Parts: sequence; C-alpha cells; structure tokens
Amino acid sequence: MTRTTSDSRHLTAAPPTDTASRRPPPKPSPARWWERPWILPLALFSVTFLLFAVPPYLSLDPADSRLPVPESPSWYFPVLVIHVFGGALITLLVILQVWPWLRTRHPAVHRWSGRVYVLAGLPLVGVPAMLIAPFSEAGASAQISGFVWAALWSAFTVLGYVKARRRRFADHREWMLRSFALVYGIAFNRVLHVLLVMITAPRVDTVYGGDFEAMSLDLGAASGFLSWILPLLFVEWWIKYRKPRRRSRRARTTDKRTASPASPAEPDHSA
Ligand code: HEM
Repeated sequence: MTRTTSDSRHLTAAPPTDTASRRPPPKPSPARWWERPWILPLALFSVTFLLFAVPPYLSLDPADSRLPVPESPSWYFPVLVIHVFGGALITLLVILQVWPWLRTRHPAVHRWSGRVYVLAGLPLVGVPAMLIAPFSEAGASAQISGFVWAALWSAFTVLGYVKARRRRFADHREWMLRSFALVYGIAFNRVLHVLLVMITAPRVDTVYGGDFEAMSLDLGAASGFLSWILPLLFVEWWIKYRKPRRRSRRARTTDKRTASPASPAEPDHSA
C-alpha cells in the first residue's frame, strides 16, 4: 500500500511547539548573603588558626607546648604532636571537601582528598584525640568533653565514608557536614574562650577572688563543650531547614536512582 501525502506529513511532522518550551528559563533568584562565596573567608580563618596553633609544636619540644603536658603517660606528647600535624592536614582538606565549585568541576579531586581526609584523619586525628583526652590537665569536664567530641568526629567521619561507598550521597553529605562542623571545634574554642573570659572578667574579684588563671581554667570547660556542640547544632539546622524543598527533591531523586540497579546514583553537589 502506498502512503498518502497526509501520512508522510504526519510521520515527518516537526515536534510540537508549545509556548512553555519557547519560554526563556526563569532567572535564578539572587543569592542571599550566606549563599555568596564563603569559601575564601573560611580558608582565611582556617589558615590564620593554623598559623597560630601549629608553630609551638614544630620544635617537637614539650616545653613549647601550649597545652600543659602531663608527666605520665610518656607517650602523651608524641601523640599530641601527631594529632596537631594530622589536624593541620585535615583542616586544609576539609576546605576542599566543602567547596561546591571543586566538587562540581573536579569530582575526582573531591573523591581522592576525601579518602585522605578519612583514612589519614582517623589514625592521625580522631584516635590520638581519644587517647590524649582522658589525660587533659584541664580537669574531668574537659576530659569528658574532649573524649566525646573525638568519638563523635570519628563516628561521623566513618559513617560519611560508608554512605559514600554505598552511593547513598544524600546521607553521605549530612554525615560529612557533621564531621566538618566538629573539625572547626578546635578553632572555635579559641574564639569562644576569649569571648567568655571577656564576658566574665567583671566578676573575677567577686567569684574568683581576683584569680584570673582560675577563672580562665574554669571557663575552659564551658568553651570546650560549647565549641563543638554549637557548630554541630548549627549544622543540624542547616541540614534540616535550609532550602528543605530543593534538598528533599534531590534526596528523593538520589534515593530513587539508588534503588534502581540500572541507574547508579550521582552525588549531590549542593552545599
Ligand atoms: C577533628 C576533631 C578534633 C578533635 C576531636 C580534637 C580533640 C582534641 C583534644 C581532646 C585535645 C586535648 C585537649 C586537652 O587536653 O585539653 C586536642 C588538642 C589540640 N588539638 Fe585537637 N581535635 C580535633 C581537631 C583538631 C584540628 C583540626 C587541629 C588543627 C591543627 C587540632 C589541633 C589541636 C592542638 C594544637 C591541640 C593542643 C592544644 C593547644 O595547643 O592549644 N585539633 N584536640
């Protein structure tokens, strides 16, 4: 049977041109202040902190340590030094990990530096912190706070790694954000301690009998706890409330793809 003109016209017809497809894509809404480039301030803050925190340990001499070094156990100082150098490494790596541009443009760099962050961070930072925390000269409160902080950082980091290996990228992002928050506990502690001392200074005579050292040590326990709990709470808020609709849609897409063996899930590159 020969095809009629109308048949062939039907077969070669141009795709439908509905008005929606011709409409220009909607303009992205202007970034809010916290969505503007924050990686540079974060990097500057981190480098400034490292320049302040690390040099006393470069001499490998316990006399230069900022932290009082207990006489026993003898391994305390070497383990502290390993922790400080490992901490400097993961502070630099974590900036790369949370940098959205690098994650989108160079996912292989994100993957490799992420592996180093986990596989070097656990033996060089998390485990040493758990070992030295119980010997802190700052007292029982600081010992407990330090140990819980180290255990949580290690657990969050392992969970983040496991989720990435299982291609559960929405979960990976959340656990790694928690791990990131706890890395900054140490730098935040310095700022917070100074703030607490300034706030409490007017009461140094009435509460501490004029003993500034005693006041500073006392506040060390409070700033020790707050310095990792506050960043963690902030990140929980960030995960739960920031752009919840966009996030949950992406998470749903990722989960659906994960469920289908034919189409592996892709990482979510949003911050
Ligand atoms: C990742 C999570 C971290 C945990 C759980 C952790 C935990 C600890 C603990 C428990 C101590 C001993 C505190 C005491 O005895 O009172 C300590 C000391 C120290 N940590 Fe970390 N830390 C972490 C990350 C870092 C990072 C990223 C750095 C960066 C260099 C760092 C640098 C130091 C330094 C320099 C000290 C000695 C204290 C001082 O000199 O002021 N830590 N840390």
